[in-house]
Amino acid sequence: MRNFYCLIILVGLLMSCDQKPSATETSTEKLADSTFDDHSYSNLREIHTTHLDLELEVNFQNKTIYGVARHTMNNNNSDTAIFDINGLLIQKVTLGTINHEKETDFVIGNMDKDSILGQPLLVTTKNKTQQINIYYQTTENSAALDWLDSNLTSSKTKPFLYTQGQAILTRTWIPIQDSPSNRITYSAKVSVPDDLMAVMSAKNKREKSSNGNYFFEMKKPIPSYLIALAVGDLSYQSLGPNTGFYCEPELAKACLFEFQDLPKMMQAAEKIYGKYQWDQYDLLVLPYSFPFGGMENPMLTFVNPTIITGDRSLTSVVAHELAHSWSGNLVTNRTWNDFWLNEGFTVYFEQRIMEELYGKDVSDILAAVEYYELQDELKTIANSKYPEDSRLFLDLKNRNPDDGMTDIAYVKGAFFLKTLEQKVGRKKFDIFIQSYFEKHAFKTINSEDFIRYLDKNLLSKEEVKFNHLDWIYKEGLPKNCLQIHSTSLEKMKVLANDFTQGKAIFKTKVSYKKIRIKGKMRKKKLIERLKREDHIVQEWQTFIRTLPKNISKEKLKIIDFNLGFKNCGNSEIMTEWFTLALENNYTELNSDIERFLKKVGRRKYLVPIYKAMNKVNPKLAKQIFENSKNQYHAVSRNSIEELLKEVN
Ligand code: BES
Ligand code: ZN
Repeated sequence: MRNFYCLIILVGLLMSCDQKPSATETSTEKLADSTFDDHSYSNLREIHTTHLDLELEVNFQNKTIYGVARHTMNNNNSDTAIFDINGLLIQKVTLGTINHEKETDFVIGNMDKDSILGQPLLVTTKNKTQQINIYYQTTENSAALDWLDSNLTSSKTKPFLYTQGQAILTRTWIPIQDSPSNRITYSAKVSVPDDLMAVMSAKNKREKSSNGNYFFEMKKPIPSYLIALAVGDLSYQSLGPNTGFYCEPELAKACLFEFQDLPKMMQAAEKIYGKYQWDQYDLLVLPYSFPFGGMENPMLTFVNPTIITGDRSLTSVVAHELAHSWSGNLVTNRTWNDFWLNEGFTVYFEQRIMEELYGKDVSDILAAVEYYELQDELKTIANSKYPEDSRLFLDLKNRNPDDGMTDIAYVKGAFFLKTLEQKVGRKKFDIFIQSYFEKHAFKTINSEDFIRYLDKNLLSKEEVKFNHLDWIYKEGLPKNCLQIHSTSLEKMKVLANDFTQGKAIFKTKVSYKKIRIKGKMRKKKLIERLKREDHIVQEWQTFIRTLPKNISKEKLKIIDFNLGFKNCGNSEIMTEWFTLALENNYTELNSDIERFLKKVGRRKYLVPIYKAMNKVNPKLAKQIFENSKNQYHAVSRNSIEELLKEVN
C-alpha cells in the first residue's frame, strides 16, 4: 500500500515538472519504495552517493556560487537517481567521468506545499551509472548561504560568506541526496577572490593561498548536513597539538584568551569516550549573524562571536560542539525524528567534559539552568498545536525538521542519560557508551536501534529495569527524572526574592577583618557591595528569572543602575534582561535593545526579545526587523518573520 502511495506521489511530481520533459516518466515504478526519510526525496535504497567531488567558484559580486557536483554513486541497477535541491538553478546533468561525460535528461518536480523540502531532481541514469555530474548555480533563495557585505564583519573591509547546512539546507547550495542516513566522503576545489581565505569542514590549510584556489578533502564519511564552507579574511592560531582557531584578525587576541582550555577539553573528552577520530579540531569564529551558538562541522566547528565574553563564561558551547565529534558526527541520527540521539547525548557529554575540567558544582549549575528551561518548554509544548513534541522520538513528517530543535531533544535527552547513569552507576554506564560509540562509529542510528542496543548491552546484561520506553515514546518528563541541586543558584533565588520583598541588596556593607600585616594582627576595614562580577552568567540568569514577571519600573531601574546588565557583554544575560524589561514596559532600554538586535543574529537571542517586543510594541518590533532582516541569516530571518505574524 505504501508503495502505491509513493508511486502516485512520484508520478505527480513528474507530471508537475518545471524543467525539460523527459523520458524519465516511464521509470517511476522502480522509485516507489524510495524513501524512509520524511525530509529527503532521494531514492537512497536504489542508488546513493558514496563520494562527492565539488568544483565551486565563489563569486562575491553576484553573491552566487557556480558549481559542479560530481557524485560517485553506488547503483543498484536504477535508471533514475533522485537528489534534493532547493533554490538552485540546474544547468545540465551529465553521466560519466571527466572527459567522458554525456548529457542526460533530468526533471525537476514541484516544491512541496509548505516549501520545506524543496524539489526533487530526477536524473535519468543507465543501470550501471556510477558517475553523475550536476552543473548548477546558487540563487538568492539558497538559504544556507549568508553573504555578508564588509560592513558586517569585524574588519569592516572584506566581505564574508558562510554556509549552514543542518538540518536540510545543504540542498540549497549543493544538489545532493540530503538525508543524514547516508554518509559520504568529499573533496572540493574552491576558487575565491585572492585576498580571502576559504575553509571547509575538512582538512584545512593554515594560510591564505596566493591565487585564491583551495583544495579540500574529507576522507571520513559524513552526513550531508555537515558539509560546510566559509570564506573571509581569516587567520589561524594554534592552541595545542591538534586544536586551534580561525577568526578575523581583529578578534585573534580575545579568542586566544577565550579558547585557552580547548586542549584540556579535548583531553577530557578522549579520557571519557576514547580517541578523537577526526585528526584536527579547530574553531571558526564567524560574524555575529551566525544563527547558532555553534555548529559541529567536522574538523572545523563554526561558532558565534557572542561566546567570546572575555571571561570564558560561555565556553560550554565549545565543549558541546566538541562532544558532537562523538555524538552526531561519529554516530549520526538516521532521520530528524531521532535528533535527540545527536543532541541529548551531546548535552550529556558536554556536561561531563565541563565536570572534568571545572568540577561538579559547575556542571550542576549548567544542568540546573537547563532543567529550568526544560520545565518552561514542557509547558509551552503541552499548550501548543503539537503536544506530542515532548516525546524524544518525534514525528516531523510534513513539518520543518527545525521544529525538533527544542529543549526536549537537548535537555530531556540529556536528563534521560543522566538518570540512567545514576541508576547503573557511572563506571558501567561509561563502558556502555564507549562501546556504543565504537560499535556505531561512522554509522547512523535510529531510536529503535538504540533501544535494542541498550537492552542487550546494558539493561539485560546488568539485569537493570528501567523505563526507557516511557522516556523515549511518552510525552512529558518521567517521574524518576534525576533532580539537580545547586547551592549557588539557590542563593541567587534568595537574593532575587529578598530584592522583590524590598530588601536593600545593593547597600554597601562595612565589615572588619583581622589580618596579619608585618607580623602584627591588624583590623582591616572591608567595604563590600554586590557587583555583577561577583557571580557567573548562570547565577545572574537565575536571579533575573526569579524576579516576578510583573515587576515595577522602579525596581528595574535599581537593578539597571547597580548591575549594568544592558551593556555587560554577555548576551545570555542581556537577552534575559531585555526580555524582562520589554515585558514590563521599561522603555529606558529600548535603544540598547535595538542596538543588540541590529548586531547579533543568533536565533536563540532574537526570538525571545522579538516575541516580547511584539507583544508590547509590535510597531517597533516590525520596524527594527525591517531594518535588520538583511543582516540576519535566513534561519533567523524566517523564524522572526513567522513570530511577528502572531497577533496578540
Ligand atoms: N547542531 C546544533 C545546531 C543545529 C541544530 C543547527 C539543528 C540546525 C539544526 C549545535 O550543536 C547546537 O546545538 N548549538 C547550540 C549550542 C548549545 C546547545 C551549547 C546553539 O547554537 O544554541
Ligand atoms: Zn548540538
